[in-house]
Amino acid sequence: MTMPWQYSQLLPILLLLATTHTIVAADTQQQPIALAGCPDKCGNISIPFPFGTKAGCFREGFEVTCNYSFNPPRAFLAQDSTFHIVGYGNYSANYSGRNYVDVMNYSQVPVELLDISASTSELRGYGAVRSDCIDGYSKYDDHLVKLQGTFLGWNGPKPFLLSPLRNVLMGVGWNVKPKMVLGGSIFTTTGYMLACLAYMRYNVLTNGTCTGRGCCQTSFPPERDVNFTINAFSVTFEPQKLLDDNDGMSTNSPCSYGMIVESSWYNFTSEDMFGRMVLANKYPRGVPFVLDFAIRNGSCPTEGQQPPQDYACISGNSNCAKAASGDGYVCRCWDNYDGNPYITNGCQDVDECQHPHLYNCSSGSICKNTPGGYECPCKSGMRGNGKEGACSENFPLPAKVAVGLAASIVIIVLMVMTHQLLKLKRFYEQNGGPILKGVKNIRIYTSKQLKQITDNYKVVIGEGHFGKVYIGRLEDKQEVAIKKTIEVDETSKQDFIDEVIIQSGMRHKNIVRLLGCCLEMDVPMLMYEYVVKGSLYDVLFKNKDNVPVDTRLRIAIGSAEGLAYMHSSDVKSTIRHGDVKSANILLDESFTPKISDFGTSKLLARGKSEKTEWVIGDKSYIDPAYLGGILTQKSDVYSFGIVLIELITRREATYDDKRTYVTNFIQACQEQKARNSIDNDITSEKDIVLMEMVSEVALECLKANPEERLDMREVENRIIHIIRKSEQHGQDRNYQGNLRPNSEVPLLKPGEK
Ligand SMILES: *[C@@H]1O[C@H](CO)[C@@H](O)[C@H](O)[C@H]1NC(C)=O
Ligand SMILES: *[C@@H]1O[C@H](CO)[C@@H](O)[C@H](O)[C@H]1NC(C)=O
Ligand SMILES: *[C@@H]1O[C@H](CO)[C@@H](O)[C@H](O)[C@H]1NC(C)=O
Ligand SMILES: *[C@@H]1O[C@H](CO)[C@@H](O)[C@H](O)[C@H]1NC(C)=O
Ligand SMILES: *[C@@H]1O[C@H](CO)[C@@H](O)[C@H](O)[C@H]1NC(C)=O
Ligand SMILES: *[C@@H]1O[C@H](CO)[C@@H](O)[C@H](O)[C@H]1NC(C)=O
Ligand SMILES: *[C@@H]1O[C@H](CO)[C@@H](O)[C@H](O)[C@H]1NC(C)=O
Ligand SMILES: *[C@@H]1O[C@H](CO)[C@@H](O)[C@H](O)[C@H]1NC(C)=O
Ligand SMILES: *[C@@H]1O[C@H](CO)[C@@H](O)[C@H](O)[C@H]1NC(C)=O
Ligand SMILES: *[C@@H]1O[C@H](CO)[C@@H](O)[C@H](O)[C@H]1NC(C)=O
Repeated sequence: MTMPWQYSQLLPILLLLATTHTIVAADTQQQPIALAGCPDKCGNISIPFPFGTKAGCFREGFEVTCNYSFNPPRAFLAQDSTFHIVGYGNYSANYSGRNYVDVMNYSQVPVELLDISASTSELRGYGAVRSDCIDGYSKYDDHLVKLQGTFLGWNGPKPFLLSPLRNVLMGVGWNVKPKMVLGGSIFTTTGYMLACLAYMRYNVLTNGTCTGRGCCQTSFPPERDVNFTINAFSVTFEPQKLLDDNDGMSTNSPCSYGMIVESSWYNFTSEDMFGRMVLANKYPRGVPFVLDFAIRNGSCPTEGQQPPQDYACISGNSNCAKAASGDGYVCRCWDNYDGNPYITNGCQDVDECQHPHLYNCSSGSICKNTPGGYECPCKSGMRGNGKEGACSENFPLPAKVAVGLAASIVIIVLMVMTHQLLKLKRFYEQNGGPILKGVKNIRIYTSKQLKQITDNYKVVIGEGHFGKVYIGRLEDKQEVAIKKTIEVDETSKQDFIDEVIIQSGMRHKNIVRLLGCCLEMDVPMLMYEYVVKGSLYDVLFKNKDNVPVDTRLRIAIGSAEGLAYMHSSDVKSTIRHGDVKSANILLDESFTPKISDFGTSKLLARGKSEKTEWVIGDKSYIDPAYLGGILTQKSDVYSFGIVLIELITRREATYDDKRTYVTNFIQACQEQKARNSIDNDITSEKDIVLMEMVSEVALECLKANPEERLDMREVENRIIHIIRKSEQHGQDRNYQGNLRPNSEVPLLKPGEK
């Protein structure tokens, strides 16, 4: 290598040179870092503006040379003012001390770059390890040494200065006192700035620590305490009595090392103490040192002042700062922005959320990047701020569970209610609600009202054909009986409706009145007036009380009148009770009979067709002429005949295939032995005669041929006639009530409005 002219004058001093090396920092960037059209890399090293490798791509003083003869290519600072000087020389044997070197040759080599950081305005370069070995030489022997110094700005102020904060002076050896020599004193042994002492008498070393035993280091004093900036430096060794070698250290450990190196980079190990040129061989390119760079010929514009034309901080989101050491300024991105402040749009928002180890959102929050920062909003259901503290549950878990539970219950209840309402509506429609609503004499109750009326179906007063019969009480205190009917489907719907309409039209004192219905259930309920004393059946057969003959007659007449009314209400004579029997004749407190369960058998016949023959009516009362389910009004008359027998004999009607109950009675009458059959409670001759007369009416009802039977009106009239006759014969009985047909209550025909 040729020596630049600048150094010719320094040659003699170079003899005193001691060498070392240094370091620098940098980092990599993904955003555009160089000027448009300029290469931003040399090999794998990023080259951010103001640095550049091509003309027009760098600010003056920031040129980088990319040497492509290496693979990968290596980057060097351009040599115009920043370089190392490397020289070789002999120690002079006759010099007191070992710091005199006869320089044999020397050269200038460029500073190789490790990396550059525009955001911190730092770079790292490779510096040398100064090595000084004595083995093979006697104490005063000449021997070859390699020397190195570093120039950062040979020709006046340049961008680069050694970073006082990020480097240390370090020495390694068993008896070494390295010195950093700087500035104009670089070629002398005096005027040094830093020194440290590493000393070791006994072989007690600790790997990893650099505290004086085999290794020493010292950092730079704060800049305010030194009146200069470090733009040229080298490492030399303090003359010392290296050869007071009592324990052979000089033989095993002949070399001393000194270096300016990035702090915390080198890790001492005892291995480095032994052998020749160990560190130089370990780090052939050198060791890293850190340089600050800045724009030296300018300063930050004051507030409101127009920045100069060559102002370097051109990125948005950036500002200007005084250089860390030396003159000038540097550019920095704002906090939470990163990138290259020296180019347009170089500072970009940092997505803090991509760096959770640096920017922390506490658990329960979600990291949200914002321009110039980030936020940690708490997840839904939590409150607080994930950036300043922890998010906490809006509701503690038990409350959540409770709320959740309550909500579920409410939803379920609503669903059930809706379902229920829909069901009620469906039943209502299915059971003919819309039609029955228009019918005059019947009131339609909701299932809720019915529940109220029956006090939640509390009192059962009997068992009907279709199920239990409940007692209820209307608002006006009137007592009512509520009965289930049959399940209504599309085919039976019309019959049901018709039946309800007919029944509601039946208004007669001897017929249990239909008051209303409730259709909002699978099986509709019908509401009737409540008749206190229960049925004639109960009175005759479940009671031992004497039943006076006049009462029996009144019951017979009233029942007959009710049935007659029923039969007369339909010109086509299709209406019949279908199940006339003592159990279906109810008695109020004054023993006024009321026909009940009207039409039931008809509904039964429709509702349960396959069981019809068993459920229609009561076999004990059934008309033997009944064939194939064809019932006529005369069938009711037949059944009423049997009721008359029960009234006369007070013996419960029974059924057998021979119809013994009826035939025995008929036979007794024919044989003039009817009085033998009469209830033993009836003792007066007058009453017995009356009963014998009623027996005759019964016989007329029981004729095998329906055509020959009386009709109900005739039955009624015949019994009334019997009573009149007995009165005319001077009887003092005073019959009240049902002595006349069609007394005060006017006849209402079904459907009459
Ligand atoms: C550059 O490449 C070399 C070798 O491939 C590698 O050792 C070094 O770490 C790389 N440097 C950077 C800054 O990526
Ligand atoms: C590249 O490096 C080689 C080897 O050190 C050297 O000979 C050559 O001159 C360098 N080239 C440039 C352009 O610096
Ligand atoms: C010792 O050094 C001086 C110069 O410093 C030189 O003149 C002299 O010749 C040297 N002596 C020997 C013996 O080399
Ligand atoms: C250095 O020493 C070697 C051998 O001791 C000798 O050959 C060489 O000439 C010397 N060089 C100078 C510059 O004194
Ligand atoms: C300088 O001298 C040393 C020692 O003799 C030698 O190894 C090296 O190659 C020389 N360098 C140049 C550039 O002559
Ligand atoms: C230091 O580490 C090296 C290699 O790991 C080991 O050989 C040596 O014994 C260690 N020295 C001490 C003093 O622990
Ligand atoms: C620094 O140097 C200037 C002149 O170059 C001098 O006036 C000043 O006193 C020095 N300060 C210190 C702390 O040495
Ligand atoms: C020194 O040790 C640290 C921690 O183990 C490691 O990261 C670093 O790379 C080491 N330095 C060198 C030069 O090996
Ligand atoms: C700073 O130096 C650059 C390059 O030498 C020059 O273009 C610029 O005008 C200078 N600025 C000032 C304020 O001196
Ligand atoms: C992240 O937050 C947790 C808890 O808030 C804390 O312990 C941890 O040190 C934080 N980590 C960082 C890198 O800030």
